Amino acid sequence: MLDGKSLALKLRGNIKEEVEAIKAIGNRVPHLAAILVGEDGASKTYVNSKERDCEYVGFESSVHRLSADTSEESLLNLIEAINKDENIDGLIVQLPVPKHINATKVTEAIDPEIDVDGFHTISVGKLTKNEDTFISATPFGVIMMLEEYGIETRGKHCVIIGRSNIVGRPMSILMSQGGRDATVTVCHRYTENVGNFTRTADIVIVAVGIPDFLKVEMVKPGAVIVDVGITRVDSDNAKRYVLKGDVDFEKVKEKCSAITPVPGGVGPMTRYGLLFNTLKSYKKKQGL
Ligand code: GUN
Repeated sequence: MLDGKSLALKLRGNIKEEVEAIKAIGNRVPHLAAILVGEDGASKTYVNSKERDCEYVGFESSVHRLSADTSEESLLNLIEAINKDENIDGLIVQLPVPKHINATKVTEAIDPEIDVDGFHTISVGKLTKNEDTFISATPFGVIMMLEEYGIETRGKHCVIIGRSNIVGRPMSILMSQGGRDATVTVCHRYTENVGNFTRTADIVIVAVGIPDFLKVEMVKPGAVIVDVGITRVDSDNAKRYVLKGDVDFEKVKEKCSAITPVPGGVGPMTRYGLLFNTLKSYKKKQGL
C-alpha cells in the first residue's frame, strides 16, 4: 500500500520543524494566500484543508472568500495587490472560478514568483524545459511518493490516463525527464481500447475522475498503480457522499505490486506539495 497519509504526515513534520527553527531566530514565517470565489462544495473543502495545513506547520495563511458574483476586474485587482505584498510567499486562486470569470486571465495574473500552484504559463514552460520552478501540487505529490517508496521508473513503461493541464500533462513530462527516465504513453478520451496500453504498463497513473475506471483486467500483474481520481459519490452517510478513486481498488489491489488508496493516497501528498512550494518560495525570497 502506498500510504500517502502517513508519508505526508512525516513530510509535513519536517516542514513544521523548519518553521519552528525560522521562528526561533525571530524571522517572519512563510505566508500562503488563497482566493476562493463562489460556493463550490469541493472547492470550499479544499481551501479549508489548505488553511488547516498551514496552521499545522506554522505558516501564516490568509483566505479571501469572495461571493460568486465577484467581477473579474475586482478579482484581478486583489491578485495584483497580493502580488505586490512582499510578505506573501504563495498565492493560489482555487479553481474552478465562476463562468463569467476567465480562468486563464486569472492564472496569468499571478506573479510567477509566488505561483505555488505552478499553473502560470511561465511555470509550465520551465517545467517542460526541466528548469527550476514550482511543480503543481498533484504531480509533485505523485513524484514524491514514487521516490519515497523507492519505485523504479528508469526504462519502465508508464501509462498516464488523462491529459489535463494540472495532472496528466505535467505528469507525462515529469515521468519522461532525465532522472526518472520512464517511457511514457498518454491515454485520453479518444484513445481506442485503453486496456491494450495499460496491460503493457509497469506504472499506471489514472486521473480521469470516473469511479472504477481502471478495471482488474486492464492491469498487468505486478504493476504499480497510482490513483489520482477523487469523485464525490452520493451516499446516505453523515457527509452525504463518499470519495471514490478511478481504480476498482478491491480487485486491482490483489493483482498489482503497489497501489495508492482513495482517500489517503495521492490527496494528502498533494496537500504536502503546496506546503513544500510555499516554503520554497519563502526561502528564495529570504535568500536562503
Ligand atoms: N482545483 C483543483 N485542484 C486545484 C489545485 O491544485 N489548485 C487550485 N488552485 N485549484 C484546484
